[in-house]
Amino acid sequence: MIINANEPQYSIADPYPWYKWVQQEKPIFRTPEGMWMITGYEDAMLLLSDPRCSHWGQDSQIFQYLSPVEKAIAQTLHALAPGHTPAFRKQIMHQLAARTLQVDEDEMKQQADEILTGLRSSTRIEFMNDYAHPFTFGTICRVMGVPQEEVSAFSKIVSGLKGGYLSFVDEKSWENGEDEPKKIFIDTLRRLIGLKRQKPGKDLCSAILAVVPDGNGDDSFIISLMVLLFYAGHQNMMNFMGNALIALQGRVEDQSMLRESLPLAITSVDELIRYDSPLQSVLLITQEAINLHGTTIPAGSQLLISIGAANRDPAKFENPDQLILGRRPNHLGFGAGAFRCIGARLAQIQGGIGLHRFFAYLNSYAIADHVSWSHFSVQRGPSSILLDINWNHEK
Ligand code: HEM
Repeated sequence: MIINANEPQYSIADPYPWYKWVQQEKPIFRTPEGMWMITGYEDAMLLLSDPRCSHWGQDSQIFQYLSPVEKAIAQTLHALAPGHTPAFRKQIMHQLAARTLQVDEDEMKQQADEILTGLRSSTRIEFMNDYAHPFTFGTICRVMGVPQEEVSAFSKIVSGLKGGYLSFVDEKSWENGEDEPKKIFIDTLRRLIGLKRQKPGKDLCSAILAVVPDGNGDDSFIISLMVLLFYAGHQNMMNFMGNALIALQGRVEDQSMLRESLPLAITSVDELIRYDSPLQSVLLITQEAINLHGTTIPAGSQLLISIGAANRDPAKFENPDQLILGRRPNHLGFGAGAFRCIGARLAQIQGGIGLHRFFAYLNSYAIADHVSWSHFSVQRGPSSILLDINWNHEK
């Protein structure tokens, strides 16, 4: 067997050197599992919008290979898939679209300030659990319509789940009564649904319920949908905050800019996502044979579109390995095409506010210990970051 001595080792902590090697050496890379990994920006962009490719959540053929949890996620995604456009998808898109999104920025700021005020008595914090989790969870709770007085208790339950939302999309896993946090989580969602049926508000849960027929006591579909929305809105945001914090370490000028200007903080979110995206890839299935750079990819193949690699493609971005907050990149971190992230505007606003407030409260920070990375499927984010903080006590 020929071993390529130049191939860098893949590392969860820093997959980018390996991506770069694949991008340079093998524009179409066959993974050991037989997937076709696409790493170039132009290829990724075109394939994400190519009608000859279906999204894995839409593809019935791939179903037989999925685990029960993946099947449940795919079915929920399938329900969300463009093309059918059921009334609840329209509602979700309407509520989260940039034009119609209703989020109270002052409320978001206030929430960040309350968390940070509570943390200031300690010079060491665990950023993910102490700040990123409660801040981003509080936001998605408000969007979904969780009553304010229940958010804190709900947040603690979810933090005990270690972010493993996706296992909950599978209805069968709810039956497992031995797992108390799981049961409490699903019961909380059931209570929320009951509450919103009785007294609808201007929130996403009420908007969905208004157009989904009452399931005659079976709310499993709505619950799965809500879990997916909590996951999409919370897990990705938390990972965004963690990745951003690591990228910004020691970058004093960038930190000052984020501290001083909320509008600039909001527009910086895209470059931070380009630089280190919370979702690293999207899986597509070819519906017919596709020719790419002289290689024929047969129909029914799995295409692993590597967002992480494409976002660092030197053919698209100058100095791709440098974080340049002033750049306004047309990145793929929110996906592209029909499945592009519906929550992108919400992500920009809350990402910007979360970082702006964090830096307003401190003079400097240092990462105190080895960062551990969580690795579930296509997600990328630190599971914990211990920080030593020099707080700004004049704040
Ligand atoms: C930095 C944060 C975020 C990132 C990087 C991100 C990224 C993405 C990406 C790449 C996709 C496409 C996935 C695929 O094709 O398989 C997606 C879809 C989606 N995102 Fe986001 N997202 C973020 C925040 C949010 C937020 C805050 C929400 C709000 C609930 C949200 C809601 C959704 C939904 C509902 C979809 C499914 C779209 C569809 O089925 O058409 N996302 N997101």
